[in-house]
Amino acid sequence: MGRASTPQVVDAPEARIEALLSRMTLEEKIGQLTLYGDAIRMGADKANPARHALEVQALREEIRAGRVGALFQGTGARSGREVQRLAVEDSRLHIPLLFGADVIHGMRTVFPIPLGEAASFDPELARRTARAAAREATALGIKWTFAPMVDIARDQRWGRVSEGAGEDVYLGSLLAAARVRGFQGSSVAAPDALLACPKHFAAYGAVSAGMDYNTVDLSLVTLWQTYLPPFKAAFDAGALTTMSAFNEINGVPATANPWLLGTVLHERWGFKGFVVSDYTADEELVKHGFAADARDAARLAFNAGVDMSMQSGLYQKYLPGLVRSGAVTMARIDEAVRRVLTVKQALGLFDAPYASLDPDAEQRIGDEQTTRLAREAAQRAVVLLRNDHGLLPLRRAGQRIALIGPFASGRDELFGPWTLYGDESRAVDLATGLRAALADPASLIVVHGSRVESPLPGGIAAAVAAARQSDVVLLAVGESTGMSGEAQSRTEITIPAPQLALAQAVARTGKPLVVLLRNGRALALNGAVRDAPAILVTWFLGSQAGNAIADILFGKVAPSGHLPVSFPVESGQEPFYYDHKSTGRPSPERGDVAFTARYRTTGNLALYPFGHGLTYSPLRIDSLRLDSAQLPWDGRLVVHARVVNAGQRDAVALPQLYIHDRVASLTRPVRELKGFRQVKVAAGASSDVEFELTRADLAFVGADLERRAEPGWFDVWVGLSSTQGPGSAFELLAPGAVVPPAAAAHN
Ligand code: BGC
Repeated sequence: MGRASTPQVVDAPEARIEALLSRMTLEEKIGQLTLYGDAIRMGADKANPARHALEVQALREEIRAGRVGALFQGTGARSGREVQRLAVEDSRLHIPLLFGADVIHGMRTVFPIPLGEAASFDPELARRTARAAAREATALGIKWTFAPMVDIARDQRWGRVSEGAGEDVYLGSLLAAARVRGFQGSSVAAPDALLACPKHFAAYGAVSAGMDYNTVDLSLVTLWQTYLPPFKAAFDAGALTTMSAFNEINGVPATANPWLLGTVLHERWGFKGFVVSDYTADEELVKHGFAADARDAARLAFNAGVDMSMQSGLYQKYLPGLVRSGAVTMARIDEAVRRVLTVKQALGLFDAPYASLDPDAEQRIGDEQTTRLAREAAQRAVVLLRNDHGLLPLRRAGQRIALIGPFASGRDELFGPWTLYGDESRAVDLATGLRAALADPASLIVVHGSRVESPLPGGIAAAVAAARQSDVVLLAVGESTGMSGEAQSRTEITIPAPQLALAQAVARTGKPLVVLLRNGRALALNGAVRDAPAILVTWFLGSQAGNAIADILFGKVAPSGHLPVSFPVESGQEPFYYDHKSTGRPSPERGDVAFTARYRTTGNLALYPFGHGLTYSPLRIDSLRLDSAQLPWDGRLVVHARVVNAGQRDAVALPQLYIHDRVASLTRPVRELKGFRQVKVAAGASSDVEFELTRADLAFVGADLERRAEPGWFDVWVGLSSTQGPGSAFELLAPGAVVPPAAAAHN
């Protein structure tokens, strides 16, 4: 049967969907609510446990019978056309398939892990990399990405910290929106638009003790204040799907939570898209102890608002009987199908089902522009934690450099978690990037010295010998790809002992030591790594990792990244984040005062706080001025700050605006980020920045779960991290109150 018998094109989109709906059997409807791994094209799904996989032939038949509406993890435009043809030509109603995949930080060209990219504090950069990922993914026939991951993560033991934007809700919300805009482009109907799926709805980042999949027990105030806003930002930016999380929230699994998926998502926020379950999350309701059996799980998930089931096959199996028994209504079935078809229609799939399955589009993969962007994004992600005595940047000539550590060379640890499609053949590792930048490539000696988690026989001796022959040592240590990401929570967020032993031995040579951290989360640094005079956070930077790190090390580009997560002193401080509450017995920043909120042996300061990041010129904020000490209820207040560059290199600074509500009906964090700016400051010069505050910036979620601002005094700082910067204070006036004429600005 050909496309000619497709239902007549009806002008109004709703009418077209209704016409289609009226012709669908129950089985075909449920087909639109069923998503399976693309066994035809990908073979086994390497990202997930093998469950319910269909055989290739069986899957083909299911598609032809209209019993599957979407596939994931398959790639290839040409092969995608073949698979799409099964639905569009061979199925009774010709409804096109939707092809999804985990395109998390790049496709063939890999960008830094999202956490690393967040260090750029640059939503526009995140938009651009998402756009580039979308162009490559759609060139390979993918139309829907299970991204962005917008879970706020305040416990660095959780392995999935790497996939998100870090600990802060303000930064996280900006990046969530930017990534959605990037994936989807200016129109979801464009052939290179990639439908976004902000995940995991909701509060997955709040898993107890940072253990993946664990229970979430948190107040509704915190849910609304901290975990939901990035989702709202993503939906406001146009995201049309979301993924229900694995975790429960306060006893009710997110995947069977009518309040979350109905009241909040649709009623309160007016979400018009559809909800897909996480991988077999509906089936897991049984193990949660929430559903009696698989049939009950299908009923609970579906009735709660999970429109599409990923991989379990539960909807296919049980929804027909549930409808017959009356436990699921036809109205609910139609509602879910309508949502899915509306999204397919918005993507233009009905009119042009092969538009994103164009083999010629593959030419745009890995083009020069995308490669340049990967290098820029990687440069921008690097964070300089420490640079004693201006050890960095290094000279390109005239000295011998030892590059030591398990990450010194090799392409297998550049991409990081959640890279299913990256092209390793084009990736530039550290040794290659450094050699390309050096005047004499032979001046670099490369020694691994250790494996990631176990010693390398003779490794330390070889590393020490290399260090002795060199003028400076670069030590590439940290976590492997497999140590962060899904199901990779850690109890100690430290560098594995064999690498620390290597660092210790190399440090003892007395050679200047530059640590290049490879990491998917904040780490608790110790020993010779912590004490090294220069430390760069290089995350997993992707395809251009080696070039970008060389650019920074040799000063072609100055570091400009800032931490999107706090680095604690010790693992045991987790969950550890800058915008914590004061408590009734706050511990002073320095000194050991009895009966205050602190651990016996560790203070509360971060080793490196959220927002911290140095560059090659010393920067400081040297003045802060408010244009008034009073902010009228409906008014605005301008905060002026001056950034000074006392060094000899031009720099990009990141002044950050923080506030603190001194007294409120619910206690407020000691500091909260409310704004930041990228500011160019020429060597020896200064730049003025302005931030504007209105009542909306001071609002918080009250006990009634509504946002409110309360009159009273606020502290304000502009700093180059979350723990520094000059401060001032102002008063938010009550409604109707006027600014006294003589009010002087607080400086
Ligand atoms: C993850 C999701 C992912 C899905 C499909 C799940 O295990 O939690 O983030 O999108 O698998 O691969």
